Amino acid sequence: MSDLTGKVALVTGGSRGIGAAIVRSLAAVGADVALTYQTAEAKAKSVVETVEALGRRAIAIQADSADADAVRAAVHRTASLLGGLDILVNNAGIFPAKPFEEFTVAEIDNALNVHARAAFVGAQAAVAHMSAGGRIISIGSNLSEHAPFGGLALYNLSKSALNGFTKALARELGPRAITVNLVQPGSTDTDMNPRDGDHALVQRDLTALGRFGAAADVAAAVAFLAGESGRSVTGAILTVDSGTNA
Ligand SMILES: NC(=O)c1ccc[n+]([C@@H]2O[C@H](COP(=O)([O-])OP(=O)(O)OC[C@H]3O[C@@H](n4cnc5c(N)ncnc54)[C@H](OP(=O)(O)O)[C@@H]3O)[C@@H](O)[C@H]2O)c1
Repeated sequence: MSDLTGKVALVTGGSRGIGAAIVRSLAAVGADVALTYQTAEAKAKSVVETVEALGRRAIAIQADSADADAVRAAVHRTASLLGGLDILVNNAGIFPAKPFEEFTVAEIDNALNVHARAAFVGAQAAVAHMSAGGRIISIGSNLSEHAPFGGLALYNLSKSALNGFTKALARELGPRAITVNLVQPGSTDTDMNPRDGDHALVQRDLTALGRFGAAADVAAAVAFLAGESGRSVTGAILTVDSGTNA
């Protein structure tokens, strides 16, 4: 198990779902954690209280990932209030799905900004605070490599950008001993994709394991990459999807 005692992490979109599970898993192994949210202030505060109950420090920062300045400010505020930054998790996300001809330019820009530009500018701001051993982990999607349904053109465009970004940045930051990785969840039980939702059974049937994923499954992969055990893993794409893409 990872030991993150003395480390500081920032998880974007940490108020609910996969992000909240990542916050809890990093704090459980010793990290102090900042999280961002867009609107769910009460839920963000509840996650902060969970971390504090574990004896770790936590802060919640309202920051729209579509706003590059807000993303940068969240990184710098984390480093200032928690005394540095060792781990950045780019998790905040949305699921825009409909026929591709119906998307407006504003919707296209928003998805690209939230999923791709936020990861880019967040990493730019984060490395200013990171030393050797730093970690940049993005949450993509298994759908970036396999589209089993229609309606995914914008989601997959914005998520697959993280695949190329991760590899290029891993190469660039390797000499500084900072690792850069991508975790790609499959169907995972959250508000975005509830296990009892309209399309859940179809998704479960696409898995090799016959199992709809839990947020904790994704969080465990992130905790591994964040810890010392993950020191030789960089530029990797780790798909946690119960074998949907197998
Ligand atoms: N669930 C799945 O099946 C699945 C599968 C593959 C990949 N993923 C990816 O996993 C990540 C987390 O998804 P989830 O299922 O946990 O979703 P979720 O339950 O809907 O939670 C989304 C989180 O992202 C935050 N967020 C959304 N838009 C934001 C913005 N513009 N600025 C800042 N924060 C924003 C939300 O904040 P508020 O609470 O303030 O709204 C919330 O904390 C996403 O990147 C998603 O694409 C999910």
